[in-house]
Amino acid sequence: MRDGEQGDATGAARAPRGTDVARAAELLRGGGLVAFPTETVYGLGADASNDAALGRLYDVKGRPRSHPLIVHLADAHDLPRWAASLPAVGMKLAMRFWPGPLTLIVKRSARVSAVATGGKDTVGLRVPSHPMAREMLRAFGGGVAAPSANRFGRISPTTAEHVAADLGGDIDYLLDGGSCEVGVESTIVDVTRGKAVLLRLGGISREELEAAVGPVLTPEAAASTQLAGPTPAAPGTLVSHYAPRALLVAVAVDEVPAAVAAERARAAGRAVRVAVLAPAQAFAGWSALAAHAHPLPDDLSGMARELYGAMRDLDAAGFDVIVAALPAEVGLGEAVADRLRRAAGPRDNQGQHE
Ligand code: TXA
Ligand code: MG
Repeated sequence: MRDGEQGDATGAARAPRGTDVARAAELLRGGGLVAFPTETVYGLGADASNDAALGRLYDVKGRPRSHPLIVHLADAHDLPRWAASLPAVGMKLAMRFWPGPLTLIVKRSARVSAVATGGKDTVGLRVPSHPMAREMLRAFGGGVAAPSANRFGRISPTTAEHVAADLGGDIDYLLDGGSCEVGVESTIVDVTRGKAVLLRLGGISREELEAAVGPVLTPEAAASTQLAGPTPAAPGTLVSHYAPRALLVAVAVDEVPAAVAAERARAAGRAVRVAVLAPAQAFAGWSALAAHAHPLPDDLSGMARELYGAMRDLDAAGFDVIVAALPAEVGLGEAVADRLRRAAGPRDNQGQHE
């Protein structure tokens, strides 16, 4: 084990971890891989202009190379260097929501490595608001390509501990910025065709987007309203995205007790451990479910912040089934419900998380 590396109880190598932003930037300049906090989830970063570093990033993440990465920038003013063009709607969204949990899909400039974009002529750009991320990006000076810092097939990490558990010693440095404030990934909006097309719900709600630029289109609506150009594949639509290992059942809050009873009946006497993931206040009316309770905060932003950590905790505790209450689909509730539905969706056996 090299100096500065830590081992865990099993002797597995752990990446050096700390809060040294200058060291993180230096490692990125040398082609290294640095996991870093953002306000949404942790990212696994590499120099977006260094093909060798990007190749290693895809390998460590275990992600197919056709699958594009988001390029993170220090400042919205850097945008013209990375985008070949920016329609007015994109400019409006950038001005309104950056720094923050919004990714814009734009035509890429020649500066963006085709390795980062999976060969596409578009690129996802985002200016994160986490102070440590911004400091690192400023110190580095270029673009940092970063998928969520989970191994392909795992839930996005929202603490440095999650990253360490997934990526172990395969990265060069883990910048520890504590728990992520938002807890779900960025909202992704495609502006390549002059209109806002919502590809992934996330930290910026549909209502916030629409207050800024008017109605946003679904990819299906964009395809049927003759917007010029092909609709990019909506990300996060692969089956079994965002799923814990436990089977997840997502139902309306008042259907939770019946869903738990159904899971117990289905177990037919076998030892099946069922957990209930629901807002804390819901458990007040469910005394019979107290033993299964895994309460989440009652407010939507608290729910989003703690959702992924809760799924990881329940997996670690060995639950077989998670019955989760769907929140009201307003504001951030829409992104939380989206992730719960995906987690409950059919699973293929390829474990296709991003
Ligand atoms: O909050 C986030 O967005 C986090 C933090 C680290 O910034 N990142 C993240 O990255 O979630 P990732 O790679 O796990 O998910 C990015 C999604 C993928 O589904 C990818 O397909 C999509 O963005 N994406 C990236 N570039 C794209 C492009 N040019 N066109 C369409 N989709 C794109
Ligand atoms: Mg991901």
